[in-house]
Amino acid sequence: MKNSGVQSVLAYHDRSKHRLGRYAPGPGFMDWDNQPDPFLRYKGARTQPFLKVPIDEPAASLPLDAHGLSRLFFDSLALSAWKSYQGKAWPLRVNPSSGNLHPTEGYLISGPVPGLLEQASVCHYSPLEHALEIRAEIPVELWQKISSSTPDGSVFIGLSSIHWREAWKYGERAFRYCQHDVGHAIEAIGTSARALGWRAKLMDGLSTADLVALLGLSGPRTDEENEEPECLLLITPDGAADPGEVLSPETVTAFQKLAWSGIPSPLSAAHESWPAIDEAALASRKERTPELTTESGVGESHPRKIIHQRRSAVDFDGTTAMSQDSFYRILSKVQGPSEVIPWKPEVHLAIFVHRVTGLDPGLYFLIRNPAQASELRESMKPGFHWKKPEGCPSDLEFFQLVAGDARQAAKAISCGQDIAADGCFSLGMIAHFEAPLRERGAWFYRRLFWECGMIGQTMYLEAESAGVRATGIGCFFDDEMHEILGLTGLRYQSLYHFTVGGPVEDARLTTLPGYPDLARG
Ligand SMILES: Cc1cc2nc3c(=O)[nH]c(=O)nc-3n(C[C@H](O)[C@H](O)[C@H](O)COP(=O)(O)O)c2cc1C
Repeated sequence: MKNSGVQSVLAYHDRSKHRLGRYAPGPGFMDWDNQPDPFLRYKGARTQPFLKVPIDEPAASLPLDAHGLSRLFFDSLALSAWKSYQGKAWPLRVNPSSGNLHPTEGYLISGPVPGLLEQASVCHYSPLEHALEIRAEIPVELWQKISSSTPDGSVFIGLSSIHWREAWKYGERAFRYCQHDVGHAIEAIGTSARALGWRAKLMDGLSTADLVALLGLSGPRTDEENEEPECLLLITPDGAADPGEVLSPETVTAFQKLAWSGIPSPLSAAHESWPAIDEAALASRKERTPELTTESGVGESHPRKIIHQRRSAVDFDGTTAMSQDSFYRILSKVQGPSEVIPWKPEVHLAIFVHRVTGLDPGLYFLIRNPAQASELRESMKPGFHWKKPEGCPSDLEFFQLVAGDARQAAKAISCGQDIAADGCFSLGMIAHFEAPLRERGAWFYRRLFWECGMIGQTMYLEAESAGVRATGIGCFFDDEMHEILGLTGLRYQSLYHFTVGGPVEDARLTTLPGYPDLARG
């Protein structure tokens, strides 16, 4: 089973590659009549509004109460702006998503919270209203059992993906993009929790079936709009020890018997099926594994203003240069292991430096896990320099591979997109690929993309802090990128690209606040 699952995800990975002259299978046109609704509602479920937290409220530690929980969601999965053009308006969110399609749904599992939840409940998060939809109440004894093994006041946040939202536009490659977005959301929640003085931790041991039960995802819905469970995060107050396994199989089974309310609203009238995505999702489902404890303490805090102003650049000016200090600061923020996930870094960065003052343009490499350094070096072109640039901080595993203008190469592999060449730098996230899948199982395929999305989210925020702007790039030619590095076979694969530079705003668009009622105070 383990091996056939790995073969299936490898087959999906291969067929969803973009190749020069042949993009991965996609719909070929935009079926605007059936554009999926980006906001899922559970019809019939009771709505409990969150109070909206002014963005200028200081990022001080808060208790895990109604106010704190509101801010946790507000600073991670809420709307952050509306854009409008020629009478049409569309919302943007704190967490990014390819094409702004937002396949990721959020859930809260919490005990009673005065002013918010009278009873312990499972709730769906509705970003359009910044509200909870109460899907099920958890009996007192069941919640007592859970809370007796978690630090006082802990809650859980669940994430799921609706593949159809991305497949509608991107076809077979969409499963990858959904996984990037899960990673963005995990890190957005981690960042938001940190700013509150709390900590988010991936409950890595749970199975996919456990998540179906805990989030109540087995209800009636069309196959095409299936909501695939992804993960559960434990949110604990600061200083709490990692409790290990807290949701036993018996506890999970008890969730199956809850009285679930709400019927998922339809998202599109008609659908196109993407069987390759269904197969990849099935093959990468997970069995229960022992709960591992996470490394402590590595994670960045960002001002709330930065979190809410994060945007993807649509264009770069082609002139802005970044200082070495800013550049190395960004690298230092993404180099270490994350406190949210229990595995050691599997993803490294191949960086095309275009405009960083005092650093020669060229191709560089950041090693995020030194244990893989020698394997990486021997997997790549023998002629690479592997030279640490002068002025590079000693704790950064950052090396020049080859000097020279890399703008054309960066643009060419990013499906010809100018944003890969016109910024200060762009990069490919190079994941240790086949070995982790064979060792752990096909389910780790999703996690490799999550790790990439988490790096991306940190980079988005670090770019904003440095006064520049970032954009995630899902459209790139996979094997052409591998060729640039001399990588062959499946030892390492490029899973996500990224670019950072001086943005050019689209002056035609008007920007409005995410929640106009909040702006009016
Ligand atoms: C996984 C992912 C892939 C993306 N790929 C591209 C891309 O190839 N080209 C591009 O211009 N923008 C790309 N974007 C940027 C999105 O279009 C952008 O995030 C989305 O429109 C939402 O806007 P926001 O980031 O300002 O919230 C990507 C974003 C993500 C998260």
